[in-house]
Amino acid sequence: MIDLRSDTVTRPTPEMLNAMCTAPLGDDVLGDEPTVQKLEAKVAEMTGKETAVFVPSGTMANQIAIWLHTKPGDGILVEENSHILHYEAAGPAMIAGVKTTSVPGQNGIMDVEKLKTSFPPDDPHCAPVTLVCAEDTANRGGGYAYPIETLDAIAQTAQDNQARCHLDGARLFNAQVKTGVSAARRAAQFDTVSICFSKGLGAPVGSALCLPQSMRRDAIRARKMLGGGMRQSGVIAAAALYALEHHVDRLAEDHQKAITLAEGLKQHGYEVVPPQTNMVYFKHPKAQQILDQAEQQGVRALTAKAQTVRLVTHLDVNESDIEKSIEIFGKLLNS
Ligand SMILES: Cc1ncc(COP(=O)(O)O)c(C=O)c1O
Repeated sequence: MIDLRSDTVTRPTPEMLNAMCTAPLGDDVLGDEPTVQKLEAKVAEMTGKETAVFVPSGTMANQIAIWLHTKPGDGILVEENSHILHYEAAGPAMIAGVKTTSVPGQNGIMDVEKLKTSFPPDDPHCAPVTLVCAEDTANRGGGYAYPIETLDAIAQTAQDNQARCHLDGARLFNAQVKTGVSAARRAAQFDTVSICFSKGLGAPVGSALCLPQSMRRDAIRARKMLGGGMRQSGVIAAAALYALEHHVDRLAEDHQKAITLAEGLKQHGYEVVPPQTNMVYFKHPKAQQILDQAEQQGVRALTAKAQTVRLVTHLDVNESDIEKSIEIFGKLLNS
């Protein structure tokens, strides 16, 4: 079975497993986990932040950031297709107690002019917006990477309105590889940035919230409260560390596979959104039916928005899988 549902489906490579098996371990809740400490220092350096906190998931990293940057009754602004809005189970309302408002964008890239007009007036009727979140790359936007000018403009707009800003960088290294603009530069104007190791980087589990030192204690307390304090978490931190050391530059291969896949599907007549990174989206009136048939032929993928199929390339699909997928989807469209 060729699995194009997500870049989260990858299995650890033998080298990654070896790193996991041989990592020195401690107890991270007690504060002496050497491999977690090494990972946190490395990811903080790569994102240009003072420190980082290792957490089980990207959702937890985002939710801790939202919680720490706001107080109950505040408002946050996110792009209309963002993961925080659609796929985090109303976490901002439940955990931070904030109102989420969406800002229009194109391919998941927030429109800065629309952002500027999304701040409410200083009026007791309104929830004051204290946080703006952007997502780079934008998953539901088709895996698009932000132009650096737009990232900077979003952060500046937040600052002009006395709001903080958080970057959901679940796939920030895909954006780095695509644009040649480093993760640290991309996150430079943002107060906090989350990174996922379990997506294109190919680790089995784990994310980090990268942040200023002054927020570290509160982030660790928030993680504990959410049940994310982990003990010998060096076992999984070792995989994340291995991924940062060996799997960043190779993301270019996933991006190339997405281009090949998109071109092949287009030649068969699919209405494909041109990919920027490792995601290929196409529209079809019977998206779910196509996917059910594709699965019977040996390829799995998911629907995203209505009548839209998402195919994701990753470490565990090779070029012949891509050719085979093109062939299978081609036959389905023309049958
Ligand atoms: C952009 C983005 N942010 C956050 C997450 C959440 O990550 P996790 O599944 O580790 O909670 C995802 C997961 O797909 C994502 O695509």
